[in-house]
This record gives sequence, C-alpha cells and structure tokens, in this order.
Amino acid sequence: MPNGRTTFSKFIIEQQGRLENADTELTALLNDVQTACKYIASAISRGALTGKLGTTAQVNVQGETQKELDVVSNEIFIESCALGGQLAGLASEEMEDVYPITSPTKRGRFLLVFDPLDGSSNIDVNVSVGSIFSILRAPDDRDAVTAEDFLQSGTRQVAAGYAIYGPVSMIVLTMGDGVNGFTLDREIGAFILTHPNLRIPAETREFAINTSNARFWEPPVRRYVEECVAGRTGPRDTDFNMRWIASMVAEVHRILMRGGLFMYPRDNKDTSRPGRLRLMYEANPMSMIVEQAGGLASTGYERILDVKPTNLHQRIPVILGSRDEVRRLEQYHAEYAAGTDKPFESPLFNTRSLFMRGI
Ligand code: AHG
Ligand code: MN
Ligand code: MN
Repeated sequence: MPNGRTTFSKFIIEQQGRLENADTELTALLNDVQTACKYIASAISRGALTGKLGTTAQVNVQGETQKELDVVSNEIFIESCALGGQLAGLASEEMEDVYPITSPTKRGRFLLVFDPLDGSSNIDVNVSVGSIFSILRAPDDRDAVTAEDFLQSGTRQVAAGYAIYGPVSMIVLTMGDGVNGFTLDREIGAFILTHPNLRIPAETREFAINTSNARFWEPPVRRYVEECVAGRTGPRDTDFNMRWIASMVAEVHRILMRGGLFMYPRDNKDTSRPGRLRLMYEANPMSMIVEQAGGLASTGYERILDVKPTNLHQRIPVILGSRDEVRRLEQYHAEYAAGTDKPFESPLFNTRSLFMRGI
C-alpha cells in the first residue's frame, strides 16, 4: 500500500482476521455499505448539477416531506446492499415497512437499519449531511423477517457507523472495538484510515441544541442550558460556546474530533413525539459510536443503548457526547424527578432567564 496507507476494505478484513470467529459476511456487508456511501458522496458532491436538490411530492412515514436525494440515497443503499447475500432484511427512515430478503439464495444473517440521508434540510444550502447505519443479527429461522425482528436494543448492534459528506467525505465506523475514521480519497476512489482510535475528551465547554425549542424544554434541560449561557457569571463559573448545524452527523462528527455535547431532548412541543430523533437509525448507531469513543449517550433518564425498541420509527430524547457533561445532565434529570432541584429555582433561572419567558 503506498505510504503504508490502510484502506477501509483492508482495515475491516484485518480487524476480522484478528478475531477467533472472523465473520467474512460482515466484512462483505460493510464493503457494500462503503460502496453505497461512495455513490451518495458522488451524488451530493455534484449538488445542483444532478438536478435533484428539490423536494418530492411524497411525505415519509415521519410525516416529513422527502427530498429527492432522500429517495435517491435510499435506493442507493438498497441497490448496493440488499442482494449481496449478507442481509435478511433492511429498514430505513424512508420506508414505512421493512424490506425483507425472501430469496433463499440471497438471504444472509444480518439486518441493516439506516438513515440514508441525515440533515437533508441542509442539502440545498451546501452544509454537511450524512448517512447513518446500524447492523444487527437476524433471527436464525428461515421465515421472512418482520419489523419485530429489528426491535433489538442498541447493545446488540454488531457494527454501526456514519458517512459524512462535507468538504471531505468520511466514514466513521465501530465494530465494537473502538472507533476509526476514514477519509475518501477521490483520486483513487477509496476511503483511507486517517483517524485511528478516535476518543472523545471527558470534559468540554461546547454544547449544541436547537434553542428555538427552549420554551418547550423540560426543567433539567433548561437548567443546564441556562447555566451554560450564564458562563462565568453563573454556577459553572466558566464560559461555554454553542453550535447548531441541524445535521446530527455533522454534530457527532465535531464531538468526535474535539469533544462537546449534543442534545435533542424530549420537549412538549408535540406530546405525541418524545423527541425529534429516531432510535433505530439515528440514536442507537450514534450512541454506540460515542460510547466506543469514551463518551456517553443518554435520554437523560437512561442509557440509550439499553432502551428496548417498540417501533421501527420511534423517536427518543438524545443527549450525547463528552462524559462529564452527559453525567451532569443525568444528575439534573434525577434531581428533577426526585424534586431535589429546588435550590436551582434561583433568580438567575426564573425571572431573568431568557429561556423561561413565556412558560
Ligand atoms: P433527517 O434529515 O434524517 O430527517 O434528520 C434531521 C435531524 C438531525 O440531523 C438534526 O439533528 C435534526 O433533525 C435537526 O432538527 P431541527 O430542524 O429541529 O433543528
Ligand atoms: Mn436523520
Ligand atoms: Mn434522513
């Protein structure tokens, strides 16, 4: 390999080779996922030249208008991965029902769950978007898989990752043994290992949340953000910085590069939706990556990876990133649940608070 470089394909083969029960099917599946990401990276990088930056007439199962590239990316994943022989079924943000592989000669042992294009509201403004994927084991029986078969807690993921399509395109992958980042070298058409063994620092002074939802937040989140915004004049006694890209992939990527906290918490904007992000193909894969890099991922009340899914498209509150800040938020949620956060109802938080107005 020139300059001792390691391609994504070589890396996953070598990683499997180190295991006693090496799984060549998993290696082949990850290669297919890599191919899907290359095709999507290519489509995204051509922007308006593809003539596909627009919106379709369709609304997906989430009630969200689909962008043309949401649909194209979903098709690319299916075409690249469905018939490689490693999958028993696929499920995606853009498909209401699961996609079972029924041909006995094509059916494999894994399930692939994915968000084909995350942050697609950013597509037409040329901001980073991505794809998120999670790999689970399929049941051993030979019947066609159903949605039930996908409803496994995040701890059972075999591998998880995302591709980010930004100024450079990257894949970040975990197979349950740390997190590694690969940068797309467009000249040779390969993802190259550039960010081995990514680690999230335990401490941070940077947080990300959509503050336009502030009046809908629950008290522990309001308390946390209020304290960050108060900076050196508040109980944290230090200044914080805030970022919001509205692309989960880009936010998680920033956290893997330099630490930070990302939140899309439960709010009371729409009580039928306990959060904005989806458990199976956003929260679970990102939580596995974050934990594998030394961070934490929580709903505020429990570890996301321990949640038993009840629905393929269910939403969940997400708080993830640097360990110390996630722990602090969990503590604030516990104090709120126990009613012991009363001292916090200080003048700082109540009358003078930007975030308390209108509540
Ligand atoms: P998707 O484009 O797959 O529907 O996901 C978008 C998600 C996530 O990427 C981001 O963190 C969040 O939605 C942004 O939500 P707001 O528009 O409410 O900020
Ligand atoms: Mn998404
Ligand atoms: Mn999406």
